[in-house]
Amino acid sequence: MLSLSHRVQTVGDSPTLAINAKARALKAAGEPVVHLGGGEPTYPAPMAAVEALIAKAQSRKIKYTPSSGTPELKKAVLSYTKTHYKHAFDLKNVLICAGAKQALFNFLMSTVQEGDEVVFPAPYWVSYPEMVKLVGGTPVVVTPQNGLRVTAAQMMAAVTPRTKAILLNSPCNPAGHILDEDFIRQLVQFAEEKQIYLVMDDIYHQLVFDGGKVPNPCAYAKNYQNLVLINGVSKLYGLTGLRIGWAVSENAALIAAMGKIQAQSTSCNSDVSEAAALATLNGPQDCIADLRRVLEENRNTLLTELKQIPHIRVEKPQGTFYSFVDFSHYNTDSGALAAYLLEKALVAVVPGRAFGAEGYLRISFCADKNSIIEGVRRIRWALDETAPNELKIGDKIVTRN
Ligand SMILES: Cc1ncc(COP(=O)(O)O)c(C=O)c1O
Repeated sequence: MLSLSHRVQTVGDSPTLAINAKARALKAAGEPVVHLGGGEPTYPAPMAAVEALIAKAQSRKIKYTPSSGTPELKKAVLSYTKTHYKHAFDLKNVLICAGAKQALFNFLMSTVQEGDEVVFPAPYWVSYPEMVKLVGGTPVVVTPQNGLRVTAAQMMAAVTPRTKAILLNSPCNPAGHILDEDFIRQLVQFAEEKQIYLVMDDIYHQLVFDGGKVPNPCAYAKNYQNLVLINGVSKLYGLTGLRIGWAVSENAALIAAMGKIQAQSTSCNSDVSEAAALATLNGPQDCIADLRRVLEENRNTLLTELKQIPHIRVEKPQGTFYSFVDFSHYNTDSGALAAYLLEKALVAVVPGRAFGAEGYLRISFCADKNSIIEGVRRIRWALDETAPNELKIGDKIVTRN
């Protein structure tokens, strides 16, 4: 019988990819869609990456690379890690992967047994629960009592003898907040004491605003064996398409195990992408400051525009390029609300339900400023029952009812 595995049947589709696909299809059909659902900066690739890609193509040498990443790229990652975490790791402590996502997946594949629990806070990145389920684990979601932040005490209370790992993402997709110093200190110390892995998904760690900084988990680690740092070039350099990320851990046996999973699944990373990532990490870093400045301006524009919509609750994002806004006054079903906004106002946002927080919508501010202003104008119109039934979008007239 042609059947699918039980494993794959327990896993849902990515709602963010689904929204993107629908918005793309509408756009391809000529509809003037404003896309505020995206998860990647529109910022152009750094020139160092572009030049390395051209040079690689011209070399006409595009081959397999060492499965765990080239030594040159590992060295660049070590240097990046030393700069940002103030801790020196060795080559055996680094695994280069096809994005932070594959680094996380390799970690889960290497550590989680059937029925083991992985604890993480809500709202969470949409892929966490599905990835944990894919490897046979049980996602344990810790839900905030108020607003969007869980406490360290709540996280620690969720840990049981079945807990294999705690997974943290700061600044957080979708809430945009930074986990504070005390929270990180308590969890680093707790996870070390309990001998459970603490995975820091730091993919947005330099995209923080108002001069803020993310706390450094290495400042509190003692033996480091349980700490895993995940990062990559996707978000910081706007290089989502390269598919290069990495995992760093003092636990060389863990890194080797993760490397084994990778070697038997993808063989190695793309030679071309590794060359571009290397040049990016070794090249000028002011592109990150530029991106941060653009995103901070975009965030401020979005917050100003959102002020004009009554009855919503907005927390100022401290980082990332997402705001997570409570629209439950208008509709407690975020999926229905997002579908309504896409259909009636041609604006794409992602339903909060996908991130474990019903009633919210994730609005990205990585689009250009005009799209943000136009997108919020449309949302405001779609939600305002006293507004005229028709809205002009360029040459097009859309109607609410
Ligand atoms: C929290 C978080 N972790 C990991 C990733 C995946 O990053 P990459 O593109 O490097 O696989 C994303 C992408 O959206 C993310 O938001």
